[in-house]
Amino acid sequence: MPILPMGIPQEVDKFFYNREKDLKRLKNYINALNLDVAEQILVTGFRGVGKTYLLKKLALDLPDNILVAYVDISRLYGVQKGIITEELIMKEILTALNQSLMRKESYPSKIRRSLTTALHMINWKKYDFREAGGILGVDIPQVSDDYEKLSHFVMEFPQKLVESSSGKLNGVLLIIDEFQLIGELQNPTAFFWMIRSYTQQQDNVTYIFTGSTSQTSDIVEMINGTKGAYGGRMIQFNVAPFSYQETQSYLAEKVPEINFTDDGFSRFYQCTRGIPAYINSFCNTLSAGEIYDENKVKKTFFEKMDQITIMWIRIWGTLSQYEKEILINLAQFGPQKWTELMENTALSRGTLSKYLDVLKNKGIITVEEKNYRIGDLMLDAWLEHRNNVDGYYPP
Ligand SMILES: Nc1ncnc2c1ncn2[C@@H]1O[C@H](COP(=O)(O)OP(=O)(O)O)[C@@H](O)[C@H]1O
Ligand SMILES: [Mg+2]
Repeated sequence: MPILPMGIPQEVDKFFYNREKDLKRLKNYINALNLDVAEQILVTGFRGVGKTYLLKKLALDLPDNILVAYVDISRLYGVQKGIITEELIMKEILTALNQSLMRKESYPSKIRRSLTTALHMINWKKYDFREAGGILGVDIPQVSDDYEKLSHFVMEFPQKLVESSSGKLNGVLLIIDEFQLIGELQNPTAFFWMIRSYTQQQDNVTYIFTGSTSQTSDIVEMINGTKGAYGGRMIQFNVAPFSYQETQSYLAEKVPEINFTDDGFSRFYQCTRGIPAYINSFCNTLSAGEIYDENKVKKTFFEKMDQITIMWIRIWGTLSQYEKEILINLAQFGPQKWTELMENTALSRGTLSKYLDVLKNKGIITVEEKNYRIGDLMLDAWLEHRNNVDGYYPP
């Protein structure tokens, strides 16, 4: 059995396939930092399509004079059991910057120390950035509000880092992954506007917001729509699934031992829709020495459904009872309008509305013309499959 990675592999380059054009485009935007032009970028695409892997590869390829910090909001969300705040996100950004800075031994140690001190202070709940701010030249406002001080320091820090690096650093790239979960804040709009207000004055800091959400979702509107914080000025970048040809050459390159007939491959592509997460997990259930025709692919798909949809089984385990109830309902009765969901679920008005929002923010359901639907056919297929096999939907 072939072994294609199921997560982002440690050896980034070994399994990474193609994406040449995407990388080239992204590198062009980031390289503008060398000319004191900071682009702001929004990367969208289906869950499992390869956004995180692409950005990890990008980070690896960038020259030493660009500092890259990576923040995963979904990790934070998990650790905090779904309760995230602006303050936690700021701390996470600072921690990520600190980690990257630690790895760059060539930077002035004074700067590195100042950040470590600042982080200690925050962990002790002492929001005093005068010393760290002094070293970098960040004026900390004379206010009693801790969040205001913290956000000011965190937002000013990357640009000051470049300015005080004596030419060692031309830019900072901050990657904010699964950013759609920022929608879970009390006031996400204010948060985006706050970030925007800083970034528009900074010439050497690029933010990449990325998430498993569609190009037209509410959260994308909120950050980059006409009335959004960036008002359309962000570069929007969608990561596409592998094409039919790309999938074919990817498999030929990485797992030449797997053989398909034309019909068989066609069915394989139909099942995975070119999404690398599914291509890999499906492929890992296939055997060398077999020839997969349409029927065999179909059969394997149903037999190995749990392995192929492993990504969703993991996510399912993190959902609340309410979220599961809504999804099961959508699997059972298909796409529905709000009033239909009200009738078909046992949820109160407030609960239904709250958890529909949560599921939207997680990029699990989508809304088209007021119809709510499960956003990923693979999740739909898995739920139906479990019900057929077990006689009930997964608890
Ligand atoms: N360019 C690629 N080459 C090879 N495998 C990939 C590629 N992109 C994604 N994958 C596979 O798909 C999985 C999902 O990718 P990931 O970047 O986590 O998706 P996303 O962040 O869009 O949800 C990865 O763990 C990896 O195994
Ligand atoms: Mg990802």
